Amino acid sequence: MIIRQAPDIRPSEITPEADFRGRREFLRRAGVAGMGLLAGSGCAADDKPADPGELRRLDVASGSPFSTDEAPNSLEDIMSYCNFYEFGLDKRDPAKLSGDFQPRPWSVTVDGEAEVTGTFDLDDFIGPHPIEERVYRLRCVEAWSMVVPWNGIPLGDVLKRFKPTSRAKYVAFETVVRPEEMPGQRRGVLDFPYVEGLTMAEAMHPLTILAVGVYGVTLPNQNGAPIRLVVPWKYGFKSIKSIVRISFTEKEPPTTWNLAAPREYGFYANVNPEVDHPRWSQASERRVGTGFFGDRQPTVLFNGYGEQVASLYDGLDLRKFF
Ligand code: MTE
Repeated sequence: MIIRQAPDIRPSEITPEADFRGRREFLRRAGVAGMGLLAGSGCAADDKPADPGELRRLDVASGSPFSTDEAPNSLEDIMSYCNFYEFGLDKRDPAKLSGDFQPRPWSVTVDGEAEVTGTFDLDDFIGPHPIEERVYRLRCVEAWSMVVPWNGIPLGDVLKRFKPTSRAKYVAFETVVRPEEMPGQRRGVLDFPYVEGLTMAEAMHPLTILAVGVYGVTLPNQNGAPIRLVVPWKYGFKSIKSIVRISFTEKEPPTTWNLAAPREYGFYANVNPEVDHPRWSQASERRVGTGFFGDRQPTVLFNGYGEQVASLYDGLDLRKFF
């Protein structure tokens, strides 16, 4: 799949539903749709999705050459079908159970092999960077996919401000731990905090962003408010949510899913239709929101971003470094 130059779309033009109905009503409708699904799965009728809180409009520059022109999923799809184990295991748990989560005030700590380190208020952390729209494919390791119009800033531009030293070979990320606000953390389904990592070259790649919004509004709690990673050529589990720490490291950092199941999830996790998961095929994927079962389509190496990123892995055996 080749990424073509994005047509000049402004976020307002791809959010006609939100604009037309008014955001609050639109979000309420998203909640009602979630309840419909829940009723079908036998949950109690009052087990409804949480109000995602006040989502603020963002000032976003559109038209990135990195955006795909594939049709984005609706905000409703993106907000109601989530993986965020800190809130529970079911795809609908993050929407239902994230209402108590407080994404503000927020601070991010930067430490490790860099000249500038410290703890920064979120507004100061992202403030110097214009927010861009990036419409990216998201391919989950579970073989479903979406197209998401993220709003974010290139991670590389942020990292440069901290002047990483020559010993910085990797970048590690950590999600917040707040069991009182995150019911999945009280159940200990994974060893929290959720941690992830990238090589320095992956982190500096212009496709890699820190997302702070979607569809022109701040991130809903269930999608990783207030700031998350998005690495579109890797399986979705690399795109860690609700980040509170970024560390420059000399050694490859541990990653949550690799710690949980090392035979099934590697550090690299590049989308690869030829390397099956030990328990299922990765040759095709179901596009969420395309009918009850979803249209299946072939999965593409590096999730279709090979032209931009394949050179990062020159000489690396992609079967061994999965
Ligand atoms: N980050 C944290 N902290 N916890 C998680 O459980 N799930 C990952 C990733 N980031 C996860 C996470 C997985 S498996 C996927 S597919 C994506 O988030 C899903 O992002 P979305 O729910 O916004 O679509």
